[in-house]
Amino acid sequence: MDHMDGLTVSGCERCPELCASRSQIVNGSGPADAALLFVGEAPGAREDEQGRPFVGRSGDVLWGALRERGVLREEVRITNCVRCRPPENRDPTAEELANCRDYLEAELDRVDPDLVVTLGKVPTEHLLERDVAVTKEAGTVVEHRLGGAPRRVLVCVHPAATLYDRSQEETFGAALDEAVALAGLGDGTGDGSGQSRLGDY
Ligand code: URA
Repeated sequence: MDHMDGLTVSGCERCPELCASRSQIVNGSGPADAALLFVGEAPGAREDEQGRPFVGRSGDVLWGALRERGVLREEVRITNCVRCRPPENRDPTAEELANCRDYLEAELDRVDPDLVVTLGKVPTEHLLERDVAVTKEAGTVVEHRLGGAPRRVLVCVHPAATLYDRSQEETFGAALDEAVALAGLGDGTGDGSGQSRLGDY
């Protein structure tokens, strides 16, 4: 098992069921020094196929919403609590989450982001180590010790929640506004003009 760079896991065989269901390990993607690190739950079918996180419908929602706020996906880092696709997209078990925890903590230490954003219930409860009513707490920032350091964690609903329940769109959008502002990204206008700060260079 190789995890020398703090970012890339290969050859892990800690979870027998996930080893059997995965096509490949899905590591985080995005700059290793990103100011903003999103943490999702686990890869789905598209991610398992392509080997990259958030390349399916949830990703379409997230990247689209960030683009509206002037942020490109290339500017942020994104990873998952568990790096292998669970069978039939079931939630990862407590044991699987625990098995993958040190990979996530190593990534947090390596990237050292200004802000961590948890996408949905599983990553929020996993990182904050308590029960969380995510819709109620979405948009709030919590200080929590993760890996080697205290981190600012912003609670956010999962992007897929907006596909099943339109009323979550506003909650999701407000949390993203907060995330972009706290990480110092975006065009700062909040006008949805889609101008990325990368366009300035
Ligand atoms: N949902 C997640 O939580 N993670 C992914 O990588 C894709 C969808």
